[in-house]
Amino acid sequence: MLKEQISESLNFLKKKGIVEAEVGIILGTGLGSMAEDIDLICSLSYREIPHFPLSTVETHEGKLVYGMLAGKKVLAMQGRFHYYEGYSMKEITFPLYVMKSLGIKNLLISNAAGNLNLNWKKGELMIVGDHIDLLPENPLRGVNDPYFGPRWPDMSRPYSSDLVEKIESIAVKQGITIRKGVYVAVQGPNLETASEYRRLKLIGADAVGMSTVPEVIVSNYLNIPVCVVSVLTDDCDPDNLFPADIAEIIALAGQAERVLSKLFFELIEIV
Ligand code: HPA
Repeated sequence: MLKEQISESLNFLKKKGIVEAEVGIILGTGLGSMAEDIDLICSLSYREIPHFPLSTVETHEGKLVYGMLAGKKVLAMQGRFHYYEGYSMKEITFPLYVMKSLGIKNLLISNAAGNLNLNWKKGELMIVGDHIDLLPENPLRGVNDPYFGPRWPDMSRPYSSDLVEKIESIAVKQGITIRKGVYVAVQGPNLETASEYRRLKLIGADAVGMSTVPEVIVSNYLNIPVCVVSVLTDDCDPDNLFPADIAEIIALAGQAERVLSKLFFELIEIV
């Protein structure tokens, strides 16, 4: 079933000239314009591609962008799928199976996240070093097809230490402050109460968001090295909590995007 769906997607993409890719990119909320740096070979709306779910969030473009970036063939998802939009985890992670079949060797992901670490501040970037999954469903639930990956994927090192080291040294070279921490995924779509932020800090998280972890689980399952950078868009201090300003969150993501694009560009160059 999954195999047939993947091959239908692949056949369609091949007809459009998308035959192989080296690097996959998934761009988060307010972070989609990085795709404009790509030397375009082909751009497709998700709605055209067989078995791709449709993106429903206004801040997400919902396009698959294929072309050259930093000397590599990249396939970028401009706009991603969230569990809170009503998709199943299988639907959210379907594009990863397609990317894997197209041969990607590395996956780069960006997202917008709330900042739980009071030593840091909004507007900064955080490399995700580890995560906590509080989402209510798992993308690997169900019968396992060992063709794709193991029944019980190991998660002791979910984020590629090679990619993390490389992006850290690029940040140092570019003079960019970059943090490293733990991302916790929650269902949303509401933001958290002060007590919920307090709990998330207590369990060890530095940043909170509503995405990414399903894709990281499936990347590990499919054996694709993955690197995730969060833009910290709002400070989540439980003792001093202000109403979240969604427009400000998206604006901050947009500002950080130029910096993040430069980091990803150099990383793609050397992977
Ligand atoms: N909570 C959850 N998701 C988020 C937040 C937040 O505070 N900020 C950006 N994404």
